[in-house]
Amino acid sequence: MIIAIDGPAASGKGTIARALAHHYGLPYLDTGLLYRAVAASLLDKKGDPTREEDAFLACDFTDSLLSESRLRSEKIGKIASQLSAYPKVRQALVKRQRDFAAQKGGAILDGRDIATVIIPEADAKLFITASPEIRAKRRYDELVKEDPLLRYEDILDDIKARDERDSSRSISPLKQAQDADLLDSSLLGIDKAIERAVTLVEKQIETVQS
Ligand code: CDP
Repeated sequence: MIIAIDGPAASGKGTIARALAHHYGLPYLDTGLLYRAVAASLLDKKGDPTREEDAFLACDFTDSLLSESRLRSEKIGKIASQLSAYPKVRQALVKRQRDFAAQKGGAILDGRDIATVIIPEADAKLFITASPEIRAKRRYDELVKEDPLLRYEDILDDIKARDERDSSRSISPLKQAQDADLLDSSLLGIDKAIERAVTLVEKQIETVQS
């Protein structure tokens, strides 16, 4: 079984995807990490984020980079969002994602264009969202432990800017696939959101099987 999960920054899609992976015993790929790895690799090579060619050359990173904690920083996230608009970068990462999805037994992937571009043939598709304010609060709570000077307003501005960039880019913009179910996690606690995700996936699989 292949499950595709998409949604904007800090929508809860990572937590939900991990819980579904555990529930169904599937390997999980957070595809945002691939774009973050390109950003880190570009910085290591002293590349220029405004040059598509530099970003493309940074796509040759090795898997070991994916487990480095620096990928989680806001700085890397911002650059990743910028680089992810380059067609050459998106193209360079397609095979990696499709190979992961093609594993025997299936897989679960989360990102921005998984159900629309990477694996439109996935068995179950969810689009997870939440209001920008709630997503900013979640991201703030997550990051403030490491950076006590962080300001909620800055995080909210960043989330809005990232939404705008992700949704308006010409290649693979963030959008709900026609046959994906929408899950708004704004008013749901994490346990309820996971429960709801399992119910939606079960329904979609039933429909495919019947
Ligand atoms: O954690 P957050 O949701 O902020 O971002 P992420 O999922 O780690 O992804 C980092 C950036 O990569 C995002 O801002 C997106 O612009 C981009 N991305 C993408 O374009 N396509 C994907 N499948 C995954 C991430």
